[in-house]
Amino acid sequence: MKRKKIKTMGEQFGRRSWAEPWKIKMVEPIKLTSREERERTIKEAGYNTFLLRSEDVYIDLLTDSGTSAMSDRQWAGIMLGDEAYAGSRNFYHLEEAVRKYYGYKYVLPVHQGRGAEHLISKTLIKPGHYIPGNMYFTTTRLHQELAGGTFVDVIIDEAHDPPNLHPFKGNIDINKLEALIKRVGAENIPFISLAGTVNMAGGQPVSMANLKALRELCNVYGISINLDATRMAENCFFIQECEQGYQDKTIAEILREFCSYTDGAWMSSKKDHLVNIGGWLAVNDKELFDKLCNLVVVYEGLHTYGGMAGRDMEALAIGISEGVQDDHIRSRIEQVRYLGNILINWNIPIVRPVGGHAIFLDAKSFYSHLPQDKFPAQTLAAELYLDSGVRSMERGIVSAGRDPETGNHRYPALELTRLAIPRRVYTQAHMDVVSEAIRAVYKARKETKGLKMIYEPKYLRFFQARFEKIT
Ligand SMILES: Cc1ncc(COP(=O)(O)O)c(C=O)c1O
Repeated sequence: MKRKKIKTMGEQFGRRSWAEPWKIKMVEPIKLTSREERERTIKEAGYNTFLLRSEDVYIDLLTDSGTSAMSDRQWAGIMLGDEAYAGSRNFYHLEEAVRKYYGYKYVLPVHQGRGAEHLISKTLIKPGHYIPGNMYFTTTRLHQELAGGTFVDVIIDEAHDPPNLHPFKGNIDINKLEALIKRVGAENIPFISLAGTVNMAGGQPVSMANLKALRELCNVYGISINLDATRMAENCFFIQECEQGYQDKTIAEILREFCSYTDGAWMSSKKDHLVNIGGWLAVNDKELFDKLCNLVVVYEGLHTYGGMAGRDMEALAIGISEGVQDDHIRSRIEQVRYLGNILINWNIPIVRPVGGHAIFLDAKSFYSHLPQDKFPAQTLAAELYLDSGVRSMERGIVSAGRDPETGNHRYPALELTRLAIPRRVYTQAHMDVVSEAIRAVYKARKETKGLKMIYEPKYLRFFQARFEKIT
């Protein structure tokens, strides 16, 4: 029997707020550090928060990827790992969970999201192809480029404007997309790369209405739609909250409907699925599946483990069902909003509306005196760490990388510092500490002079680039 949507205690009695639908059973101590220690460690890390040791971090908001707390059921699942090389029972549980909640026919496990991006890009993209999408994601675009394609951003303009309050800033601009199809020809577009929610835009959702319009257009031109489903369950919360006709549907129901308008999906399960490692690639087309299934053995592993241990597939299968529960998603997003609303009340510039997985500080307005090539968002991440040991990351010019043709920096409209909140890990008190750190750095913003890049790796430079402070 279908479970009815249950109201929060606050909704039931009109007197209290939401609370997490879990209690804490195991804790990991975290370390306080002194300002002197942080001065030394961030300098040694070349002012790149990716190069810090995690034991030198107090509150770690570097990413929500692989940093969630697993449930007791997931940990129990770890003990049920079937570590056979082929045909592990845990693979069949994973396959069943993906089919049940996402609705795709054929499923391949991969070690994490970029493994799936690699396989689908290599299989579908040929040199000279164009791949339209709703704002780039770093690893996704790189795999598309390495396969010989060119990514084209067809997101709505509002997505590039941090204070704009459009409720679905992840939407595709259907007119922009149609103009591209007419310009380059449908035969040169292997698929649409649709992400829900859009990480680089600030965790912004895509509406069901937008996807339906996209499906209609793609049917006219015979183009398929592949979904980056990494944070799709979170996207469904925004549909449930804001889109007419979805208030009484569960997240799971909305998710199934959304995926039904797409042809396939890749997934970094390290986000929505509450596991520390893993992912999958799923499609409906048997011929495409056969090609992917053949390629997975070259790069990931046999098609029944794809780079994952049996135990990890079991934790993932359980995580899929936990990750689509309404009470879980609600508390996850409300925690992000809690932090966002404090900052909004203090007039600190952040991307609005507050998105699904993170707070994105608008570093361009935060450090309005710094030009983009002094790396304002990178600087802000370093300053936050220096102030309170809070780790965030850059999502601006460093993440955007260089244009492969000209070799010049790409100058993205958005220059953001992301504080991603791991799921089921930190409390409201941690969020209070983070908000105070941001406020302190905001107050001192005029004294900040920016950074100079002194080492730049060729691929995905934000992970390993090194900087020096401008004095
Ligand atoms: C939207 C999106 N797509 C794809 C990926 C790549 O996934 P992974 O890090 O598991 O390789 C990420 C990871 O951060 C992501 O946020």
